[in-house]
Amino acid sequence: MKKKSDATGKENAQRLPRHVGIIMDGNGRWARKRGKPRSLGHKEGLEAAKRVVKTAADIGLRYLSVFAFSTENWSRTEKEVSYLMFLVKKHLRAEYEFYKANNIRLVYSGDLTGLRRDIAADIRAATEETAHFQGLTLNIVLNYGGRDEIVRAVKRWRKAGQPPLTERNFYRYLDQPTMPDLDLLIRSGGEKRISNFLLWQSSYAELYFSDKLWPDWQGDDLREAIRDFQKRERRFGRVS
Ligand code: FPP
Repeated sequence: MKKKSDATGKENAQRLPRHVGIIMDGNGRWARKRGKPRSLGHKEGLEAAKRVVKTAADIGLRYLSVFAFSTENWSRTEKEVSYLMFLVKKHLRAEYEFYKANNIRLVYSGDLTGLRRDIAADIRAATEETAHFQGLTLNIVLNYGGRDEIVRAVKRWRKAGQPPLTERNFYRYLDQPTMPDLDLLIRSGGEKRISNFLLWQSSYAELYFSDKLWPDWQGDDLREAIRDFQKRERRFGRVS
């Protein structure tokens, strides 16, 4: 098969990262720059998320995790929090056809018990309705903190009767035990932080920071991040 190279502007379909995670940052600043309310930034951020998810499915990525709301985000104003929840709810209800058309299976990471009951129920329903789709697995990371996930994992391990625990089998107690470690962690919006996102899973992730604010992201920005990833040498602590 002909190898696709960087020179063609295309990612190499043979060396895709298995699992990509995205911290979608910059919605508020995008709105402020336009003299608009932060809610508009989030609305446009959701549109950007759809463009990028569609591209991920088109490229043939297997796993994509998107950080939609952190355990720390509860400290924002009530108005902003409820708007974000409204967006998530509306999206989950309206987009079944999008997931079906693109063969996308939805899964969830985070603490469902801390969410409003109707939103938790919508998330459960969306994951059940899309469970049989076999293309991209899209992990909605919501009411999530990496440390919180690790603590909840330890509680599950305790409930399971405390079987022998190793670094290799700890993943079984995480929110999405079947998802592989992160290969590529992307953050938009200019900050260079991990912000408590998928801490266990990102031990050896390649990091990609972009100055572009999230609502400006297009599918090609994901392609560029993947091409950048494909130039890196991953050593996992070994010498090359
Ligand atoms: C960070 O920008 C963004 C968020 C806290 C919310 C991201 C959520 C979405 C894009 C909706 C996605 C929903 C689904 C279902 C995938 P910020 O507000 O921190 O921006 P700032 O740093 O410029 O203030």
